[in-house]
Amino acid sequence: MPVIKIKDIAWGRLRSPSIDQQEEFLTDFGMAKAARTSNALYMRGTDPTHHLHITEQGEPGVIGWAYYANAEEDLDKISRVEGASKIEPIDEPGGGKRVRLTDPNGFQIEVVWGIEKVDALPVQKIELNRGSDKYRRSGTLTRLKNRPSQVKRIGHSVILSTNLKGSLAWYRENFGLISSDDIYAGKPDNIIASLNRADRGDEYVDHHILFAWQSDHIGLNHFSFEVEDIDDVLLGHDYLVAKKKYEHMWGVGRHELGAQVFDYWCDPWGRVHEHWTDTDVLNVANGSNLAPVTDLRAQWGDDTPQKFKNYGIR
Ligand SMILES: [Fe+2]
Repeated sequence: MPVIKIKDIAWGRLRSPSIDQQEEFLTDFGMAKAARTSNALYMRGTDPTHHLHITEQGEPGVIGWAYYANAEEDLDKISRVEGASKIEPIDEPGGGKRVRLTDPNGFQIEVVWGIEKVDALPVQKIELNRGSDKYRRSGTLTRLKNRPSQVKRIGHSVILSTNLKGSLAWYRENFGLISSDDIYAGKPDNIIASLNRADRGDEYVDHHILFAWQSDHIGLNHFSFEVEDIDDVLLGHDYLVAKKKYEHMWGVGRHELGAQVFDYWCDPWGRVHEHWTDTDVLNVANGSNLAPVTDLRAQWGDDTPQKFKNYGIR
């Protein structure tokens, strides 16, 4: 039995030399400001959660990310894990309590409870007709304005690790993550990467909340954010292209494993942020799968560019 089973990913936490520049990028990416203090920025999505992205002022760096606990008592349980902090109040906008841990790669993992809820933001929802069902929006006009994507929530983190086996054991034993797909190269016992989801029993969850790769270095490959729909991915893409100041990493395409329609962009310090929509959702009954490395392809869209392979920064 794991120590606890986490509910979901809560936020990513970065460090950047310019909070102004970070806010500009994240706003163009489709988030909204939740709070700004003298030394940190808190950005939110359209869901009623206080924030999903934190940037602290300082040298560029990846601090880590946070998971929501399912119950307040879980903070007590996880605080007894070796190396964990005591339960501490979060002295930041949104409040709440947390336990901090350090994963085998040096990332800070916060397990949080009691973060302030806020009202959801309005979302433009576009009804789609299909070839086989073409009257779903009869009599209405679809006229989309140029705008950023509508970021809804954070979905997952992807990391490179020099100790994949130890990292997977740590996340599975402490937080109850379960494998959706373990990826092998050559022989099936040569696992080189793994996509893991939260265990919420019968409840369906995203295909992956943590994707980890064996590598020769440690780094964040990307943080990933769910948006409303496919129009939203493409509108967001065009909006960021038009800004002419951000590096595009990969997309638009549809993944094989997870099946998300994706698009990847670098922030001004090379930290990759993904837009996605329409993931596979699984529950505990779906079990775990072993997949060859060739399954890490796009079902449509370009192949992974060379610059994004083994990409990870700290
Ligand atoms: Fe992703």
